[in-house]
Amino acid sequence: MPYIAYINKFFISLIVVIAVFISIDCGSSSSKPYTDENSIEWVGDDQYIRTGEARNIISKEQMYGSDPHVMETLREFTTGRKNCYSIDVNNSEDNIKVERVLVRASFFYGNYDNKSNPPTFNLQFNGNNWTQVRTSDCLTYAEVVYSLNHGNTITVCLAQTHPENVPFISALEVRSLDSDMYSYVDSNYPLLFMSRTAYGTNSNSTVRYAYIHIG
Ligand SMILES: *[C@@H]1O[C@H](CO)[C@@H](O)[C@H](O)[C@H]1NC(C)=O
Ligand SMILES: *[C@@H]1O[C@H](CO)[C@@H](O)[C@H](O)[C@H]1NC(C)=O
Ligand SMILES: *[C@@H]1O[C@H](CO)[C@@H](O)[C@H](O)[C@H]1NC(C)=O
Ligand SMILES: *[C@@H]1O[C@H](CO)[C@@H](O)[C@H](O)[C@H]1NC(C)=O
Repeated sequence: MPYIAYINKFFISLIVVIAVFISIDCGSSSSKPYTDENSIEWVGDDQYIRTGEARNIISKEQMYGSDPHVMETLREFTTGRKNCYSIDVNNSEDNIKVERVLVRASFFYGNYDNKSNPPTFNLQFNGNNWTQVRTSDCLTYAEVVYSLNHGNTITVCLAQTHPENVPFISALEVRSLDSDMYSYVDSNYPLLFMSRTAYGTNSNSTVRYAYIHIG
């Protein structure tokens, strides 16, 4: 009975423990993790990067769809062509093998430098070009799904590409994916984010699931 088989699979994928669930509040120097209204725990970024400076936004205008506390701080990179976050994924914990991860980077300018000039720069993951980030007065996201291919470290780099366009980042999230997800995609190819739509909602805020924990 194919129908029953489908339902079973659906429930199995819902109860799978997400082995890697890291939410980094960039530029936050608070040593205490912050828990948002979706029960997601955010940690500061000190342990993941050695360069850049922490900054606070000036303007909260047009900050829709994300937690204000997380978006209030950011890290900017005035020096170096490339600055990188390095995140270790512990593959041996609970004997769960992490094969594929979703990485999301968020950018909220908030006029933090008081120049009213949201920058454009490049993002890279594990040495590959990821995307060009064109920040604006609104929240900007970049997402990528890719296979670790036996590696244990995720590297996310911000690269300056235009003069006077200082790269910055507000948040960085990593989630491991159930190995069934996107299993039809060859593990040598990443999936890049285009858009995600919550059909039928009439609210302006982002829908997140606290219990399933995939934003
Ligand atoms: C990974 O997790 C296991 C089990 O919790 C622990 O023993 C090991 O030290 C961890 N390795 C790293 C590199 O954190
Ligand atoms: C931003 O710059 C304006 C002048 O351009 C100045 O009046 C204002 O005090 C500055 N605000 C902050 C928070 O630095
Ligand atoms: C990444 O893109 C930049 C231009 O945006 C280019 O100069 C560089 O060669 C690319 N690197 C790779 C590894 O494709
Ligand atoms: C969503 O935002 C638009 C434009 O700011 C506003 O007109 C509309 O009332 C908002 N809708 C809800 C449900 O908040």
